[in-house]
Amino acid sequence: MKRVFSGIQPTGEIHIGNYFGAILNYVKLGEELGKNSIYCIVDYHAITIPHEPELLRKRTFDAALVNMAAGLDPSKVILFAQSDVREHTELGWIFSTQTPLGDLERMTQFKDKSSQHSVLAGLLMYPTLMAADILLYKANTVPVGEDQVQHIELTREIARRFNNRFGELFPEPLAVHNKDALRVPGVDGQGKMSKSKGNTLGVLEEIDSIWQKLRVAPTDPARVRRTDPGNPHICLIFDYHKLFSDLDTIQMVEVGCSTAGIGCIDCKKTLMKGVERTLVPIQQRAQELYSTPDIVKDALHEGAREARQIAQQTMQEVRDALGLLNP
Ligand code: TYM
Repeated sequence: MKRVFSGIQPTGEIHIGNYFGAILNYVKLGEELGKNSIYCIVDYHAITIPHEPELLRKRTFDAALVNMAAGLDPSKVILFAQSDVREHTELGWIFSTQTPLGDLERMTQFKDKSSQHSVLAGLLMYPTLMAADILLYKANTVPVGEDQVQHIELTREIARRFNNRFGELFPEPLAVHNKDALRVPGVDGQGKMSKSKGNTLGVLEEIDSIWQKLRVAPTDPARVRRTDPGNPHICLIFDYHKLFSDLDTIQMVEVGCSTAGIGCIDCKKTLMKGVERTLVPIQQRAQELYSTPDIVKDALHEGAREARQIAQQTMQEVRDALGLLNP
């Protein structure tokens, strides 16, 4: 049986990297697998860096709302907030007692983030909580962007080590990707789009604000004049066309750029059509949900109830296997 789990952090606005890299796959797998697809707003993960309580509450709600506006139907899948299901931290603790410190210290995301902030112990333990998220539901399939692969590898090792020591309980989950959006680049052209880098295009961002960012976004530096041919394959804007535009437009832009048949500003304006076509319907649904917040709150409440049923069953098995008392 295929069971899917994935999580998204409420640490900032949901951006198009999250949308194309992960959420689109949540929706697709949700349609295929129904209640065997489980999605979580991971607020316990979000507090591994300093945070504001009110903002966290708002962002957790917003993250759920954006997922719903993007097409995730909470009556078909399970959608909930991590802190509503206490078993996540319980299993996270257990895994931290079984995981060598060196395995956690070598995680690249830990190294990156610990150079930006004062290091909290929870930041180091982040991957054991993430393994708990996935294995609590015995999920074997994890839709994520490429940046999460190392964490999923560690989750596999944690499952393997546990099974060897205490008996076969967990699957070894595999990451699955949207191959067209493994690593959506930031609008500054300086690497991956990321909430922490401030180089995002928000799913709910005003269309004009997106245009203002794209208008000044870097393109192939070889195109100094309008008549200079360019290489679309090193251009950020072409990467975005591949996400937002239809095949004919992508081909037209590819040829146009390399033969100087289209200028960069026109190429960006063409991109905006795809941006609008993709984001405006999501933004309209989001507006509707903001005016009926109880729909989102009730969905999270019901999702947590469904998640808890699975999580409590797994924890009984884990407690038995470890020799802990079962209440
Ligand atoms: P987070 O909140 O950073 O990102 C959520 C999802 O979006 C993907 N993503 C991207 N994909 C392509 N291009 C990008 N520029 C881009 N930026 C983000 C991420 O890969 C992710 O799939 N540790 C996780 C949250 C988590 C989790 C889990 C995920 C906690 N527990 C269990 C899966 C399973 C994170 O920080 O994602």
